[in-house]
Amino acid sequence: MNIACIGAGYIGSVTGASLSMMGHRCTIIDIDPAKVDAINAGQSPIYEPGLQSLIQEQAGSRLFASTSYQSVYEADVVFIGVGTPSLEDGSADLSFIRTATARVANHLNPDHFTVIVIKSTVPVGTSEEVTSILEQISGLESGEHFAVASNPEFLREGHALEDVFFPDRIVVGALDDRAKEMLRELYAEFMRPDILETISLRLGIREGQVMAPPVYFETDLRSAEMIKYASNAFLAVKISYINEIARMCEAVEANVLEVAYGMGLDSRIGNQFLQVSSGWSGSCFPKDTAELLIASQKHGQELSIVKAAIESNYRMHLYIVDKVLDKLGSLHNRRIGILGLTFKPDTDDTRHTQAAVLIRRFIECGASLQVHDPKGMENFCQTNGELPVTYCHSGELVAEQADAIVLVTHWLEYKDLDWGHMHKRMKNPYVLDTRNFLDSVEIRKLGFNYEGLGWIADKGEQDASRPTLSHVV
Ligand code: UGA
Repeated sequence: MNIACIGAGYIGSVTGASLSMMGHRCTIIDIDPAKVDAINAGQSPIYEPGLQSLIQEQAGSRLFASTSYQSVYEADVVFIGVGTPSLEDGSADLSFIRTATARVANHLNPDHFTVIVIKSTVPVGTSEEVTSILEQISGLESGEHFAVASNPEFLREGHALEDVFFPDRIVVGALDDRAKEMLRELYAEFMRPDILETISLRLGIREGQVMAPPVYFETDLRSAEMIKYASNAFLAVKISYINEIARMCEAVEANVLEVAYGMGLDSRIGNQFLQVSSGWSGSCFPKDTAELLIASQKHGQELSIVKAAIESNYRMHLYIVDKVLDKLGSLHNRRIGILGLTFKPDTDDTRHTQAAVLIRRFIECGASLQVHDPKGMENFCQTNGELPVTYCHSGELVAEQADAIVLVTHWLEYKDLDWGHMHKRMKNPYVLDTRNFLDSVEIRKLGFNYEGLGWIADKGEQDASRPTLSHVV
């Protein structure tokens, strides 16, 4: 098929690159010429494991990029994957969606049926608004010349290719039969175990695993839009819950690693998204929970659980600063080293990262900050330029004369830092590992005063980075 993907961010680039790998001809359209030039030169416009080589392979043969919407004219399917950031009040800003839709409308082909698919996370009812913008501007008729479908994206940054090729489910909201048929055809290959196996070998993902195809779920437009918000909010609630349990575990001297493992053995609960942290953050959960909450309030059906999860998450960020404060007595003129600025590893995305909240709070309390991230320092500096922090070229340097190190993001390379050398460079060798990620036994052997979250290191010497399976018989 001929595909156009509007937006060269996470959704557009990954969708365009993956569909071109499946044999479709894809044009990624973006207003930013730098991103367009990068894709045409075989470069990924974002840092995402595996994407660079996929774009390099496909660019110029089946994958193209342009600032022009011309390719919409020939497209069978147009994916809209532009950003929907938060407005001041927390509701979703749909201005990029509306602008992109208007430009699509100007390029629709009256002699060719086109399916316009919204992949961005949009409030319930947006697909209908998009339909009416398309009708008004193009003068064409929905159902006759085009149809709008909702196909929410469930990929996680850092695992985007794995999630696109091997999703649990593909959700399609559509009312038009022709649109449903075309999307079934488009996704048919994603349902074939033999093709999935080939992809797995080519990309080195999920090798040797049984290739179960995803569930292909068709529903109405509004339900599809809601599935996305309800899913993200549920995951955010789940993390807030385990983070509160972690705080409770500290208070009662239980071990949250054992507790999360024991909970996860119940298949109704599942063992995913029970990893303790300084709180969830990033470009999706904060904006989606905010929009869902505000929409629920507008409809007189306040989602009090989502509201509580948002509040609890903010408290979790502050809890980290309080723990360091407790340890040091005062933060005034203290030097704090921060490991990790991105909201999670394997991404360069620093939008709404918890690191910014923690750092801002440390500064308010009089501390000075020296920070490191393997991929996110440039982006962090761009989005938080006002924060007076020292950027370090290596993780080891955050230890220089530091009173505390806080590991915020569990980048794998932080395990391999020269912790012995760091210990010598610190004024006070205290490490707070907010992801329970480091080898606590080794770190403590080096003389560090190590703390994780949700368990008392003195009470049990097990390595927090490994689940303790000693009692499983
Ligand atoms: C999330 C969803 O997981 C995706 O399914 C969805 O497509 C995406 O939002 C989106 O709406 O576009 P993402 O934000 O990339 O994906 O990252 P996650 O892996 O979900 O992590 C979100 C935050 O929760 C991160 O700060 C992460 O460190 C934190 N987290 C995650 C925890 O603190 N504990 C966990 O157990 C899992």
